[in-house]
Amino acid sequence: MIAPNTNRTNESMSNTETLKITDLHVAVEGKPILCGASLTLRRGETHALMGPNGSGKSTLGLAVMGHPAYEVTSGSVELDGVDLLELDPDERARAGVFMAFQRPMAIPGVKMADFLRHATTNVRQPDRKEGEELIPMREFRKELRGKMEQLKIDPEFARRYVNDGFSGGEMKRAEILQLAMLQPKFAILDETDSGLDADAVKLASASIAEIRGGEMGILIITHHERLLEHNRPDVTHVMLGGRIVETGGPELAEELHRDGFDRVRADHPKAAAQEAELEKLQKEEAVG
Ligand SMILES: Nc1ncnc2c1ncn2[C@@H]1O[C@H](COP(=O)(O)OP(=O)(O)O)[C@@H](O)[C@H]1O
Ligand SMILES: [Mg+2]
Repeated sequence: MIAPNTNRTNESMSNTETLKITDLHVAVEGKPILCGASLTLRRGETHALMGPNGSGKSTLGLAVMGHPAYEVTSGSVELDGVDLLELDPDERARAGVFMAFQRPMAIPGVKMADFLRHATTNVRQPDRKEGEELIPMREFRKELRGKMEQLKIDPEFARRYVNDGFSGGEMKRAEILQLAMLQPKFAILDETDSGLDADAVKLASASIAEIRGGEMGILIITHHERLLEHNRPDVTHVMLGGRIVETGGPELAEELHRDGFDRVRADHPKAAAQEAELEKLQKEEAVG
């Protein structure tokens, strides 16, 4: 018998459980978009990922989740030492990584409650095969109702089709509800503020802080200071032209909110040139 590890404190946990992205290169449709992004997120930590539009922030998240359009050409992504790139997207979710999408997909015909019951069962019982028992309905309903109350979401929401005809704000709340139910080890929140008014961002920020319970590692991709209000970043990363050019503390996020990215571009001319190059490619595509 293996002796239980009794001195497994929060601290030792946050030191060992990491999502480690190393020198990640990603291409979309054969075009290089990320050219060497590295970051290490530990459980319990909050990181902010900032950068101008088109710098590659969503690409980083989608590549980590295994979106088929985002081809990892080199580099590695490891969760507690396990190579995530070898796993299918659903296996990555079962391993404990979650991403709230900037533009979530609608699934007409599938009710939120059914979707969440499947997803939650799969994540909690990683070895479950398709067709095997789901979390019992009563138990699941009770838990879902509790989370919806906590997040101030109308109970009617559970009966609607996933993201079908949802407003921007409703979509973001659906993502936060998923986060609350799945309780992943690591969460990537891609602009969970976009399209929300100031009050809604405030509520989203408070909700995220409440449901993560200090144990999740969170990478918040945002332009909005308010989302960080209740989730002060331990670490701030700045992406420009497909690479992370600076990593700092919370004061870096504050500076970027206040002053924008001109200073970063001036300090990193090579990445700024890459940014201009990507923009040119995009314009040519739009024309041609
Ligand atoms: N699915 C895609 N098809 C074509 N180009 C894409 C796709 N996803 C991202 N890109 C391109 O990759 C670059 C980075 O995009 P993205 O990661 O969405 O940036 P950000 O999230 O920082 O705004 C952009 O030039 C964008 O046009
Ligand atoms: Mg994006």
